Amino acid sequence: MRVLITAGPTREPIDPVRYISNRSSGKMGYAIAEAALAAGHEVTLISGPVNLVPPRGAQFVSTLTSDEMDDAVHQHLRGCDVLVMCAAVADYKPAKVAAQKIKKRNKTLWLELTPTRDILTSLPKQDREFLTVGFAAETTNVERNAKKKLLEKNCDIIVANDVSSADLGMESDANEVTLFFRNGKTENISRAPKKNIARSLVKIFSNLREKSLTKKM
Ligand code: CTP
Repeated sequence: MRVLITAGPTREPIDPVRYISNRSSGKMGYAIAEAALAAGHEVTLISGPVNLVPPRGAQFVSTLTSDEMDDAVHQHLRGCDVLVMCAAVADYKPAKVAAQKIKKRNKTLWLELTPTRDILTSLPKQDREFLTVGFAAETTNVERNAKKKLLEKNCDIIVANDVSSADLGMESDANEVTLFFRNGKTENISRAPKKNIARSLVKIFSNLREKSLTKKM
């Protein structure tokens, strides 16, 4: 199976020395890449800027901005069996990037932000050859928000996690996730190291992908 995984944050430049980003560490996406490799799958990892060593054996694509990640996903999508959008892609970017460093002045600075392109919703809606997995990091109404994303982002699975507690999810080595499937099913993977969660996720993704292939035959 060919697995395309995105991981980590994106960086949206404000000027040559500043940017907008988020706290994503990339650990979950990298763990999924490692688990997929260990299970014998072919892996392409598209990664935002993180402090992690790319897994050996994966095709590695390094990106900074959401636009670069968007391009990279579209470029590597052909022939992939499963797309795992684990990256925390910025929703907004500065409307203009200042060519020179913005100098300090003693007054309010307004930064105009414009929406980035949503990578998942930009994918072709019909005749998809690949299983689409989205992630949803939520601090409130996890189930409602995840189910909304499942439909609006045309995903087969949304892996949702509650990031409101400091010892789970973002930056942490542990996670607890709930999977929401297209057919209405849900499945919980209880608190465990991200490496273990990743192993369970890869099994679920490859089983579902195989089932959908068998159905098409
Ligand atoms: N995503 C994407 N392109 C974006 C933003 C997000 O493809 N520009 C993907 C993420 O990789 C993830 C899913 O959409 O798989 C959900 O991301 P999330 O940040 O939870 O949701 P948003 O759509 O950004 O909504 P909100 O921030 O309002 O929760």
